[in-house]
Amino acid sequence: MHTPPNWLELDWDALRHNARAVQDYIGAKRTLWAVVKADAYGHGAVQATDALLQAGVAHFIVASLDEAITLREALPQRAFRLMTLYPPTSPDEWRTAAEYAVEGVIDSLEGYARAYKTAQQLGRALPVHLELDTGMSRLGLTLEEIPRFLEQSRVPDFLTPSFRFPLQAGGTEAPSVSPHGVGRTAPAHGSPREAGGTLRRGVNSNAPLAWQSVFTHFACADSDPEFTAEQLRMFLEGVRRLRAGGFPETPLHAAASAGLLTAPDSLLDAVRCGLLLYGIAPTGLESHPLCAQLRPVLSWRARVISVRTIPKGQGVSYGARFRAARPTRVATLSVGYADGYPIGLTNRAPIALRGKLVPQIGRVCMDMLMVDATDLPEVQVGDVATLIGQDGAASVRVETLARLLETTPHELTTRIGRRVARPQV
Ligand SMILES: Cc1ncc(COP(=O)(O)O)c(C=O)c1O
Repeated sequence: MHTPPNWLELDWDALRHNARAVQDYIGAKRTLWAVVKADAYGHGAVQATDALLQAGVAHFIVASLDEAITLREALPQRAFRLMTLYPPTSPDEWRTAAEYAVEGVIDSLEGYARAYKTAQQLGRALPVHLELDTGMSRLGLTLEEIPRFLEQSRVPDFLTPSFRFPLQAGGTEAPSVSPHGVGRTAPAHGSPREAGGTLRRGVNSNAPLAWQSVFTHFACADSDPEFTAEQLRMFLEGVRRLRAGGFPETPLHAAASAGLLTAPDSLLDAVRCGLLLYGIAPTGLESHPLCAQLRPVLSWRARVISVRTIPKGQGVSYGARFRAARPTRVATLSVGYADGYPIGLTNRAPIALRGKLVPQIGRVCMDMLMVDATDLPEVQVGDVATLIGQDGAASVRVETLARLLETTPHELTTRIGRRVARPQV
């Protein structure tokens, strides 16, 4: 067995701790939807979901059906609700969603018609969430479209009360109507084939859509409280109009991590939380008391594979964008932009080595990068450097690197490459 060139360490205890801290913060009555899309922001979706289930989380969000299927197939015995953010764009996608007990989003009039027709063809209810666009301009029905939506949906079975999906383990919600038929025991969602694979006719033979929630997404929750308040106001107005038109009462949600911290009014019935669960603060919100309680889940380390001393005036790496101002001890690490370490951090990032922060120097290469280890004469080949995480008293935070790059922490962790070794459980 050899040590990999660079690797992730994942602290699942920290993830469980963060989930409990977020749940405590929002209160037991609110639902925590854990966002585990993009392989749980690079942390590993299956392991993250498993750890979160152990912490009592029972609601999960991914982006795509493929991500949803991966989770269902990897965790067949676990009961949890699962929602995709991409609205299904064909009857086939709705069918697959039903087969894997995945709840889909309806975000447009066409999307509504498509889902409704598919539900009729399947002869069973599809669990769906309605998204409203209140300023993100990405997905969602606009307030102007609500009258047409209500008109389009004014059919006899439209007012069927929304059912709640039962949870067999770790869940908090009692079913009122089973999506699998009255008198039948609903199978755990962890058994997708059984849960929906046979697509049998249930009590909802007139096949209504079963509304699970209405939600919106904030565009500027970390930067513009007034705009966020306006989005919330529009959202609640949209909900008022929907309900006035006969739309059933469902849980409401709007806040993701930043909104959760900056807009307490937006907590509503549920939150959709990603970043905070991974122990990372949204940009500019590092000093929020909740963030102080959270522990980073991910550390990224690489090995020193060579050490040399270069004379004053000599360049380092492509383009010689670093020139030694003094005789300089250069340590080369086995990690580069092909692993997802951004080239944009060239000459800017701190890296921890032997419990101290040292500067990255010279352009980040595909498979290697260099650090200035002049002040650490004891550094040698085989030493472990920390790109993200804690090394003794020295710490490199994702938030710091994101700020240097003028990007979000989300982008940094989701771009950590496939080549990076991950712990196998
Ligand atoms: C619709 C939606 N909700 C929630 C989230 C979670 O955001 P965060 O990781 O900032 O909590 C995202 C993330 O991109 C999202 O797109």
